[in-house]
Amino acid sequence: KKRILSGAKPTADSLHLGNYIGAVRNWVDMQAEYDAVFFIPDLHAITVDFEPSELAKRTRVVAAQYIAAGIDPDKSIFFVQSHVPEHAQLAWALNCITGFGEASRMTQFKDKTQKFGADAATLGLFAYPTLMAADILLYQTDLVPVGEDQRQHLELTRNLAQRFNTRYGQTFTVPEATILKATAKIYDLQNPAAKMSKTGESPNGSIQLLEDPKIAVKRIKSAVTDAGTEIRFDPEGKPGVSNLLTIYSTLTGKTVAELETEYQGKMYGHLKVDLAEVMVDFLTPLRNRTNELMADPAELDRLLAQGAERAREIASVTLARVYERMGFLPSL
Ligand code: TYM
Repeated sequence: KKRILSGAKPTADSLHLGNYIGAVRNWVDMQAEYDAVFFIPDLHAITVDFEPSELAKRTRVVAAQYIAAGIDPDKSIFFVQSHVPEHAQLAWALNCITGFGEASRMTQFKDKTQKFGADAATLGLFAYPTLMAADILLYQTDLVPVGEDQRQHLELTRNLAQRFNTRYGQTFTVPEATILKATAKIYDLQNPAAKMSKTGESPNGSIQLLEDPKIAVKRIKSAVTDAGTEIRFDPEGKPGVSNLLTIYSTLTGKTVAELETEYQGKMYGHLKVDLAEVMVDFLTPLRNRTNELMADPAELDRLLAQGAERAREIASVTLARVYERMGFLPSL
């Protein structure tokens, strides 16, 4: 079986709809067919300003949301990044084969330092992509299902794997990104030129999976639509409406073409009312299940500890090989 690996950062009180549609949903679909590894990149969460008193809780919330969305911790390996020290250890080795210029070209670093100011430009944020490469390479991953915004990080990961293999001998599987075109980028409901994000400028532009579904209804009804009246999938000319159609299609399993036919001659308002209903039906059980899981943190922690143990069995073998290839004196 091929191996897949992915993760979503615990940087907010809830994952948002973009995380779900662009990533988590696909993981759930893929876990039957692949040997799957899903983790919570909490070491990545501290590369931007964060609240120490919230980090543990947010990590558990993401864990609960993975399970509520359908990740099966018995089937898939499921753990917290900081519980497996090999991630930070391999990241250091990778830092030492990564060019300063190469890392400087990462657009997420540029975007984040622009957005959060010069003080945000820490070494940790700069090294974000090599830590991510370590996450992936430790498990000899074949495929990495992510949204479009992670494409450049995956390219770097591939380059580092190849470079290491060439320099020190065959060690890593060279992974590939799996980015599903239709859902690779869910847009902000208020600004369909930007991606939906945890730190979006307009809170009304995103849908948080754990928020009261009534809020989601309001946000869909006030979503920015486009000039004209026709309900048609046209990401260039009608980005707002097209985004709503993508969301609608993913949550119902109807194709965009079917939806276009269904809404022929109807108005944007109809589409929004129906999508709002679909959203409530989607969010309500997911939210209830997440809250149930959050009510028993000891059980969540137990599942995560079990996952970390399984993860370490794989990660420690890779790290040992890396150290050996690099010529470190073995510790007795
Ligand atoms: P993160 O936490 O920002 O996002 C988690 C996943 O959600 C996807 N995503 C979106 N997809 C479509 N539309 C959107 N608006 C949208 N917003 C987010 C992201 O592409 C991602 O797949 N660096 C990663 C976390 C990470 C990781 C890894 C992922 C750390 N190590 C190793 C894969 C493998 C991140 O910031 O994701």
